Amino acid sequence: MEQVFRTRLTELFGIKHPVLVGGMMWLSTAGFVAACARAGVMAFMTPRSYPTPGDFRDGLGQAIDMAAGASVGVNLTIPRHTSGIPTQEYLEIAQKLGVRAFETAGSQPGPLIDAIKSGGGRVIHKCTRPRHALAAARDGADAVALVGMEAGGHPGTNPHPAHVLAAETLPHLTVPLALGGAIGTGGQILSALAQGAEGVVLGSRLLTAHEIWAHDAYKARLVQAGIDDTTTALTGFGVTWRVLANRTAQEVRELEARPGVTFSDFGEKVSGRYGRDNAYIRGDWNTGMLSCSAAAGFANRVEPVGVILDRLMADAQQAMQTLRSRVLDGQVAGTS
Ligand SMILES: Cc1cc2nc3c(=O)[nH]c(=O)nc-3n(C[C@H](O)[C@H](O)[C@H](O)COP(=O)(O)O)c2cc1C
Repeated sequence: MEQVFRTRLTELFGIKHPVLVGGMMWLSTAGFVAACARAGVMAFMTPRSYPTPGDFRDGLGQAIDMAAGASVGVNLTIPRHTSGIPTQEYLEIAQKLGVRAFETAGSQPGPLIDAIKSGGGRVIHKCTRPRHALAAARDGADAVALVGMEAGGHPGTNPHPAHVLAAETLPHLTVPLALGGAIGTGGQILSALAQGAEGVVLGSRLLTAHEIWAHDAYKARLVQAGIDDTTTALTGFGVTWRVLANRTAQEVRELEARPGVTFSDFGEKVSGRYGRDNAYIRGDWNTGMLSCSAAAGFANRVEPVGVILDRLMADAQQAMQTLRSRVLDGQVAGTS
């Protein structure tokens, strides 16, 4: 599909459509990221989805080959507690392979932004609070992404939806903004652009893509899911997690409600590997905390990510034409 929307973000990352695909732990691996790149958007690979930095290097090399000349990006998530994650090594691997596009997430991104930029890279920092977005811009981020409380994964403890975050932040922001959180239709993409964002961040809407390697039974559950099939947990511990509403999410929520519970009481149930092994590998979608938002409710079949993205962009274009004709035809109240 041809380019319809040209923004500072499409220029920054050299992409056709104003769409970024946020890094998705375990799932943003070579085949998926490369297919997104070929479809004209920027997807960020997650290094920790690979067992070792060497495996990540191999995976990234494959993604670059499969992208057929289009650019792939890398997500660098700054861990909150876990130490020993070789973020610097991941960055150097990516830089050596010629990657120039990075998505950072997590607190205190300043030093990482410096390291990316001094290597010639471009960086969008993803966060959940207006003040963090403004701080990242001051720290030198080329762009910022704000994801609202409706987003899949870890939307933080911010209570506001994305459009409130955008309205609050945009008057003070000089770098381009991408907006994310349960976006899964072309109309929502147009709406983000109309609010002043220059791109969107997608995640959950693409989990049913053919190129996502996870088990068919897990994807079939997402195809079936509606917008009410997600839930949040762990807000009391300051680490809100929006996931598919399944048995594990229910158990975690019940345990969380008990007085005196500590984080270690959750055990393996809240580990990413538990969800990966049970749901993504074995197809038992009822077991594990599986990041997901209402955007999955807009998917009704498994299909190639390029087909999904083309349709979203065609729908966004259609939404723009509809809006324009309503205004021009005087159908908006008071304009006739
Ligand atoms: C399965 C899954 C895994 C995710 N893993 C990460 C991650 O490792 N790092 C990160 O920065 N964001 C992660 N995210 C968040 C996405 O990058 C993106 O910000 C979010 O999905 C956008 O909201 P949406 O899912 O409502 O579209 C994850 C999201 C999903 C759905």
